[in-house]
Amino acid sequence: MMSAVGGRPSSTSKDGLDEEVFGNAVDPKVIRRLLPYVFPQTRLVIVAVIAMLLFAATQVSVPWLIKLGIDRYIANGDRGGLIMVAALFFGSAVINWVSLYVQDITITKAGQGVLLALRRDMFAHMQKQSMRFFDKTEVGRIMSRVQGDVYQLQEFLGTIVMTVGDFLSLGGIVVVMLLLDVQLGLLALVVLPLLAIAMAVWQPFARRTFVEARATISIVNASLNENITGVRVVQAMNRQDENLRQFDVKNRSNLNAFLGAGRLSAGVLPIVDFLPAAAIGLVLYFGSSMVSGGAIEIGLLIAFIMYIQRFFDPIRNLTMQYTQLQRAMASGTRIFETLDVEPDMVDAPDAEVLPPIRGEVELRNVSFAYKQGEDVIQNLSLRIEPGQTAAIVGPTGAGKTTLVSLIARFYDVEHGRGEVLVDGHDVRDVVRASLASQMSMVLQEPFLFSGTVRENIKYNHVDVSEEKMIEAAKAVGAHTFITKLEDGYDTYLEERGENLSVGQRQLISFARAIVADPKILILDEATANIDSHTEAQIQLALRSLLKDRTAIVIAHRLSTIRGADKIVVLSQGELVEEGTHDELLDRDGLYSHLYHMNYAVLEEIGVA
Ligand SMILES: Nc1ncnc2c1ncn2[C@@H]1O[C@H](COP(=O)(O)OP(=O)(O)O)[C@@H](O)[C@H]1O
Ligand SMILES: [Mg+2]
Repeated sequence: MMSAVGGRPSSTSKDGLDEEVFGNAVDPKVIRRLLPYVFPQTRLVIVAVIAMLLFAATQVSVPWLIKLGIDRYIANGDRGGLIMVAALFFGSAVINWVSLYVQDITITKAGQGVLLALRRDMFAHMQKQSMRFFDKTEVGRIMSRVQGDVYQLQEFLGTIVMTVGDFLSLGGIVVVMLLLDVQLGLLALVVLPLLAIAMAVWQPFARRTFVEARATISIVNASLNENITGVRVVQAMNRQDENLRQFDVKNRSNLNAFLGAGRLSAGVLPIVDFLPAAAIGLVLYFGSSMVSGGAIEIGLLIAFIMYIQRFFDPIRNLTMQYTQLQRAMASGTRIFETLDVEPDMVDAPDAEVLPPIRGEVELRNVSFAYKQGEDVIQNLSLRIEPGQTAAIVGPTGAGKTTLVSLIARFYDVEHGRGEVLVDGHDVRDVVRASLASQMSMVLQEPFLFSGTVRENIKYNHVDVSEEKMIEAAKAVGAHTFITKLEDGYDTYLEERGENLSVGQRQLISFARAIVADPKILILDEATANIDSHTEAQIQLALRSLLKDRTAIVIAHRLSTIRGADKIVVLSQGELVEEGTHDELLDRDGLYSHLYHMNYAVLEEIGVA
């Protein structure tokens, strides 16, 4: 799992690593929730269980066949009988191999089915969450849930079948040993209490070192992730050496944790390995005198030794599976916890579908806070007529992005703290999708996904005609550079278009906005990252982009602002001035101040 764990190796709680490993091995709540996912795989699971039963049976049968061969047929020189035993032995080996194979593939297939459905549900659920949810939840945690935890839960299915299989083998072996010879059987089982003691002593240590090893590896991963994602900054700021030093520390603590775990198992494994040897020794010692005394036959003794050897494998597996089950349960708990988070922005049952709008936007006495008591928008009223372009201006942190987020309904205004109206409809009372489909937002960092240019422009309007799409690209001046790309509109944009300039990416996202043809268009500093070469082109693009729709533009560029029908000046969440460029300059207020301080200078040096 790649989730970020901050700080020292010992701080495991933030990521919930503690709960992860110390969960119950069997949690009925998780199992109950998991069943609906397993249910569609019932046939595969049944096949796997049958295979598992066959496997356990062959595990138990082989020593018994050997005993039969030696005692009944070799001892009596019965060739025919021996050939029959050999055939049975061979058959059993084949069944053993085939059943293990079938069990493996069916359970993997079933597990993948569960995985697929779970991931799908997680994905769908995440998409329903509100901005508030994502404000509170780190991306790293979400990723680790969707990937790591779902994977753990898929493993669970395989583990549980193997565990049941191991229990059956174990039980089968014990029963057969006691049936064959009670005395020898009990003798072989004498070492079991010792094993139990060794395990009981070993487990807590093992678990602790195991947790530490996992915690430190996730720190190493997080650090790798951070440095690779931020490689530009790292190199630009020349932080490589310091980062490497810090990485060394993390890496080393991970190494130490693993060495510790290694030492521990190196100290314990010999004991675990010694026990079967001791059991075999005991059985051989007493058994051989029983053989010479004629109490038992030699084949039985050999079968016993084989049983003892087979006996400890399932035990060793079970201790590992126990941890695996605990992890799966903890993962399950977290997955279902996440799935249980009700989206906090759901349409009211009586929400109306917004009819095609003209594009009038109005805010009435709106106040808004992300955190209770800290208003970032204060009693703000604003009206934008259909087709108008309104520019929103103000210092960083003034609340510009918040304001447009309220209009796009990424956040709901609390009742009693004003209202946001589109064409006179309170946005809280309409079906969100019907609002979203008539509104587009273009952000400072253009969001392209990995796919072709065509897919990126069409986005969710997949059935837009080719002509319309090219028309849109032409309108924003993107057509020329797109046709110069290797495969034109079929050029695949890797890593969200890393190989394009920011300006080019922004033009593509403008073309996407034109294809979507919204009545209301919001640009949040969409022109901020654009170099002066692309600037002229962007201005042209904006002209066709803003035509015939209501536009709300947050911008620093004078060229973008000056043409607006209305300029709204925000400061600390309040609307302090409103008017056209000339009106506001005449007023000699904040806008005029910003203009003279900032934009005039920028314009002089040719940036704005
Ligand atoms: N998701 C958020 N959670 C909590 N506070 C936020 C969030 N987004 C913005 N803020 C705070 O709200 C204020 C206004 O931010 P913002 O609307 O982004 O301003 P602007 O876009 O004008 O720079 C800032 O003080 C900012 O720290
Ligand atoms: Mg902003």
